[in-house]
Amino acid sequence: MSSSIIHIAPSILSADFRHLEREVKDAEAAGADRIHCDVMDGHFVPNLTFGPFVIEAVKKCVSIPLDVHLMISNPQDYIATYCNAGANVLLVHAEVCPDLAQVLLDIRKHGAKAGAAVNPDKSIDLLVPHFDAMDQVLIMTVFAGFGGQKFIPDMLPKIRSVRDEAARRGLSLAIEVDGGINDQTARPCFENGATVFVAGNYVFGGDSYKDRIDAIRRAVR
Ligand code: DX5
Ligand code: ZN
Repeated sequence: MSSSIIHIAPSILSADFRHLEREVKDAEAAGADRIHCDVMDGHFVPNLTFGPFVIEAVKKCVSIPLDVHLMISNPQDYIATYCNAGANVLLVHAEVCPDLAQVLLDIRKHGAKAGAAVNPDKSIDLLVPHFDAMDQVLIMTVFAGFGGQKFIPDMLPKIRSVRDEAARRGLSLAIEVDGGINDQTARPCFENGATVFVAGNYVFGGDSYKDRIDAIRRAVR
């Protein structure tokens, strides 16, 4: 079992955007370790969210790091933009990166931690050759595009493979899971090696964000 530090990252996709400042401050006060920001372009995924201005605004509201998940085509063209907007960890989808090595290098050059994601129907073989250049791997546990979807348990072996391969190479790689994470699904992810837990609907859909965050933390202890 992993002894790495566990991070919980509420996704603002499920926050109330009428009061975004209050929402992210409440999440921070409730014990969130990071804020997860889902950037969607209506092209790589059939949904459109927000861009660098919102990231910049969120950055001014909290002191915890921002985990920025780019679900966009041509991410290589936007690395500087999102790093400058305040991303502490910047995640791109390997499916849309013909030159992932260069993109990861670029992210680090701009001062952020570098990571890459794959959708449930894509193999981790897209990521494995680049592990040395990454700080974090993101295993999607739903198809990227929408909050509130159901966790796909078939992703558990994928999480385990990432953990085993990172261990074999002596790399300390954060392993993030994203999609359908709650107090029930977090546990098997943790047992298979996940260390960063994104939760949108589960945290922001609750009456008490603290109760929800605590429940995930208890589940992965
Ligand atoms: C899905 C996003 C997720 C999403 C998770 O495309 O990447 O971060 O907000 O939301 P829940 O936790 O509601 O599945
Ligand atoms: Zn996400």
